[in-house]
Amino acid sequence: MTHSPTILVFDSGLGGLTVLREVVAARPDAHYVYVADDAFFPYGHHGEDEIIARVVPLMGELIGTHDPDLVVIACNTASTLVLSHLRAAYSLPFVGTVPAIKPACAQSKSRRVSVLGTRGTVKREYTRALIRDFAQGCEVTLVGSPELASLAERELGGHPISDGDILAELTPCFVGDPADADARTDTVVLACTHYPLLLDRMKKLAPWAVAWIDPAPAIARRVSDLLGAQAAGTGQSRAEMIFTSNRTHGLEATLAPFFGGRALA
Ligand code: DGL
Repeated sequence: MTHSPTILVFDSGLGGLTVLREVVAARPDAHYVYVADDAFFPYGHHGEDEIIARVVPLMGELIGTHDPDLVVIACNTASTLVLSHLRAAYSLPFVGTVPAIKPACAQSKSRRVSVLGTRGTVKREYTRALIRDFAQGCEVTLVGSPELASLAERELGGHPISDGDILAELTPCFVGDPADADARTDTVVLACTHYPLLLDRMKKLAPWAVAWIDPAPAIARRVSDLLGAQAAGTGQSRAEMIFTSNRTHGLEATLAPFFGGRALA
């Protein structure tokens, strides 16, 4: 690709920023449009038909307006449902974010893996199929968290959340004999892009140490491979942040690091 590509990164809210920051690091030559569909947040509380009916036409409008070269669906709750619909409807490449069950099970030594996602993501047939195909004999515990994405939004928005709130969502991930490292969960899949926003807190609160699997670096590599060689000498690229609610957020300083320090339009 000889021109600077435009990458549109889409999530229900601010969680996709954890994917964006990896993509920005991998592709500093690209222009970025980040879309938070906060008017419909949280996706985890919506039915499957509602999400398909929301995202597919909205994506058509966004493609029409921003003409991206590639779209990242930085949301597990949406990707596990709408990717096939988007690929059927629009001809540009879509990169999704789906639970990293295969690498988690490949690396688990205790053979106990937990998948922490929204209630929607853990219910999906897509997620169940990943477990059937890639659990490799591991015992996989699905944990559908009702509130963690909203808690992460609040924290990033400058409204501190309590340890107790986080622990209540996290505790079901920790399964087995706490005293026996060979017989307890040793790997937790972060199957919602909001959760890495709380990773430091979760590490401190966890009853024992585990490996936390965040697929964002792998997604960034996939995006970069699809785009091909970087555009040379294009200077600092642009970044735009869109909230579908049109709210005024006052979060420019908080959000800028996720965009590699670019000024937000
Ligand atoms: N960030 C989204 C995900 O990865 C979910 C948050 C929501 O429920 O909207 O699943």
